[in-house]
Amino acid sequence: MNLISKRIRGMQDILPGESEKWEYVENVLKKKSKLFGFKIIRTPVLEHTNLFERTSGETSDIVKKEMYTFLDKGERSVSLRPEGTAGVLRAVLENGLHDGNLPLKLMYVSSCYRYEKPQSGRYREFFQFGLEIFGGKSALADAEVICVAKSIFNDLGIKNLELEINAVGCKECKSAYNKALENYFIVHKENLCELCGDRLERNPMRIFDCKNDKCKNICKNAPTVLEYLCAQCALHLEHLKEYLEVFNIKYRVNPHIVRGLDYYTKTVFEFIINSGEAPLTVCGGGRYDNLSKELGGADMCAVGFGIGLERLLLIMQDQKLSFGGNSNIHVYVIPLGETCKNKSIEISQRLRNIGIATEQDIVGRNLKSQMKYANKIKCDYCIFCGNQEIENNTVKIKNMSAGNEFTLNLDEDFEKYFLNLTNSKLQ
Ligand code: HAM
Repeated sequence: MNLISKRIRGMQDILPGESEKWEYVENVLKKKSKLFGFKIIRTPVLEHTNLFERTSGETSDIVKKEMYTFLDKGERSVSLRPEGTAGVLRAVLENGLHDGNLPLKLMYVSSCYRYEKPQSGRYREFFQFGLEIFGGKSALADAEVICVAKSIFNDLGIKNLELEINAVGCKECKSAYNKALENYFIVHKENLCELCGDRLERNPMRIFDCKNDKCKNICKNAPTVLEYLCAQCALHLEHLKEYLEVFNIKYRVNPHIVRGLDYYTKTVFEFIINSGEAPLTVCGGGRYDNLSKELGGADMCAVGFGIGLERLLLIMQDQKLSFGGNSNIHVYVIPLGETCKNKSIEISQRLRNIGIATEQDIVGRNLKSQMKYANKIKCDYCIFCGNQEIENNTVKIKNMSAGNEFTLNLDEDFEKYFLNLTNSKLQ
């Protein structure tokens, strides 16, 4: 085929067959989060670029290398969102959602865009399921978002995910830690890559994001943030550990997690799977108590996480997990002649009105091809509607898996019959 355009590198089409799996997973995510009181928010895919510069951090890889940024027709710099948190916080502040409503619990499914090198589990367009709690100061809020993530993974049946937590401190501990990092990395400056040389001057913590093997090795012996936590941040971490124990959630403190975004304060955490060549982070999050004020908004603490849906689905496929059985009944209605077409439409509508997926021919197939098509789409029942049936106010029904045929009256028993079938399939 000589198509004039093809899919953009790093972006995926989610086709029927796959899309049902996405629907199933998204439903589990939303249902579980609703149990904890989260409500859905939707924000625009485009934001003014300065929002992400201020939130992700000008020295972060996301802002420096990965954003899809361009001038719109009004010469304003806009960017496709690289992550969900910034836009959600902007929307909360702009719409005053927090006024008198704290704690505010929001969830979203957002397409995100990062110009990264595509590989398995890493795309340029990907989908994040995210949760944010605004106004929860206690470490219980951190533990609660972690618990939602854990419960989601349990509901989906995912095994072997490890929770790693850390603290990155507040402004005070960060500045002491940055000083210590500077002193450490300066000794190794010559062996750092060019980008990390720049990071050393602007934001030494970002050196931990580097994928260069030499830099990674140097990072191994770098001082850890835990040694520089102030009393309040250290206590917050202790409280988080206690709450995780109450929730019965296993964790490991990994002092090397710093996360790729600059807005975090105190808690950071990741759920990681170690099944492939390299560990894969499925869920990342943490607390960001200063971001609202930095955006010009209220003094409002916040904590949340993002789960990469592609990665979640990859793991589920790897672990051969179920994406939920199909509990829907699918019916195909076949008119036995032109004069019966309108009656078929009426019958199809009656079934759709009670929630039964129903199709009929719309491309002019003859009777034989319609039967073939009904087999191809693997419908559960075929309904035949001929002149004689119309006269008797009945239809003929064929159970496609059992092969038997029977007649049904088109009175209210008709709907009852299909509703009963659905109920028994659901049980
Ligand atoms: P993040 O760690 O940058 O955090 O992204 C969250 C998740 O998105 C990752 O754990 C991963 O599963 C997925 N992800 C990231 N980049 C890609 C990619 N290129 N391809 C596929 N999946 C990817 C955030 O974005 C924060 N907003 C999370 C957060 C919410 N923190 C507080 N609230």
